[in-house]
Amino acid sequence: MNVLQVSAEIFPLLKTGGLADVAGALPQALNAAGCAVRVLLPGFAPILADLQDEQAPAHLVAPWGESVALRQGRLNSLNLQAYVIDVPHLYGREGTPYEDEQRQPFTDNDRRFALLGWVAARLAAGLDAHWQPQVVHSHDWHAALTGAYMAFLPPQRDRVASVYTVHNLAYQGLFAPRHFFELGLPAAAFSVDGLEFHGQLSFMKAGLFYADHITTVSPTYAREIQTSEQGCGLDGLLRTRAHDLTGILNGVDETVWDPARDMVIPERFDAVKPAGKVVCKAALQQQLGLTVQTQAPLFGVVSRLTEQKGLHLLLGVIDDLLARGGQLVVLGTGEAALEAAFLQCARAHPEAISVRIGYDEPYAHQIFAASDVTLVPSRFEPCGLTQMYGLKYGSLPLVHRVGGLADTVVDCALENLADGSANGFVFNRFDVPDMARAVARSFALYADSRQWRKVSTRAMRQRLGWDRAAQDYLALYRRLCH
Ligand code: ADP
Ligand code: GLC
Repeated sequence: MNVLQVSAEIFPLLKTGGLADVAGALPQALNAAGCAVRVLLPGFAPILADLQDEQAPAHLVAPWGESVALRQGRLNSLNLQAYVIDVPHLYGREGTPYEDEQRQPFTDNDRRFALLGWVAARLAAGLDAHWQPQVVHSHDWHAALTGAYMAFLPPQRDRVASVYTVHNLAYQGLFAPRHFFELGLPAAAFSVDGLEFHGQLSFMKAGLFYADHITTVSPTYAREIQTSEQGCGLDGLLRTRAHDLTGILNGVDETVWDPARDMVIPERFDAVKPAGKVVCKAALQQQLGLTVQTQAPLFGVVSRLTEQKGLHLLLGVIDDLLARGGQLVVLGTGEAALEAAFLQCARAHPEAISVRIGYDEPYAHQIFAASDVTLVPSRFEPCGLTQMYGLKYGSLPLVHRVGGLADTVVDCALENLADGSANGFVFNRFDVPDMARAVARSFALYADSRQWRKVSTRAMRQRLGWDRAAQDYLALYRRLCH
């Protein structure tokens, strides 16, 4: 089955979060399951630099009149067939893929990402005489106009199914209505039954309205987004599409996240030979100037520092964590106030807390390898990957029971320890006292080294690879194509 995957990011070429990890791993897993996957990406510099052209580019004209070169070739670092939209004027910029250096969204983001959906629809309609997708699978708001363009232009020879995956309903791609008329969609599309959302143009809504099928990245989040609390104003539409909405839990790319083969950590380890983890912990403590000790747990955070991630709760439990002898290592970037608050904590307790503001892939691996507990107290979390990376590296996740965190972490309550299902610490109410109780449970388990070893060994042995999700997506594609 030919599948076109459409996304704005792809690991290891361009990543701002978990979307890139998924976009990099899912095509490989689908190929292993028997699909022939190609990806469609915007021509950001690292992506163009990795592309080995195989065909002469196709020249197109965007709905607003701009020339577009569509290149086709192989992405070297991923060994993956790709189409790349080469428009230097749109994608060759400093900053993140979405924001300028002052962290302001680019003012032409509607065009920059509408183009992804528009080109995807052209490919669905037979643009490439050598390759025809049967399924077009687009990810997040950046690629969400795919279904709308497929519905309206140009006609497809054969039926091509569209799947839209929501990685985070909170980022919607909202634009002023005046932008609608440059996108080349018929006026009828700008309505309640279309992509109009409270007078604005919503890419997210287009994805939810026009795709043949919607998926999201965990079963619990699929239920949560149908409620007014977590529906971000789109729960009504999602409820009407409940029969076309599935939660498929993400996996872990075990070629990237495997402590037995990871060359950026000081010493390798696994469930059979866990001794290397002690070396990793001591090395990080030493490197950061923390007290080198093993009698109390080291807590790790690798996260965007945004409201979603619930890290203000962590600020509320830090005193307790320190009083119990724990240590904390934070790697993150995001909201200025959160960055400042964590830096302040590190200045006050340099022997126990280290905070690095920034984005650093190898350092993230080192934190999972060194830490005993991975903290993910998110207010909401569509799937969450870091709690799964924590499991793989024997760093037990401590999480708020929400979204994908609820689907992957089982609390070390006595009954769960007894039946062998426990793999971390879960708190139910999103408040400081409940998180503090989970932290207290983690210290209690850590004090019982035999039990701790048992739980972390089991965590490292958990099967978290992408094969299960790939089978679920493949079954869905087959169903839609019949
Ligand atoms: P989200 O996509 O909401 O940020 P996920 O848990 O799904 O959350 O994915 C986050 C990804 O980004 C993980 O691969 C994590 O390791 C990585 N990450 C987050 N912040 C940083 C950082 N400051 N440095 C390195 N990697 C980071
Ligand atoms: C989003 C979500 C995160 C999820 C990731 C990959 O960024 O916030 O929970 O793991 O996408 O699907």
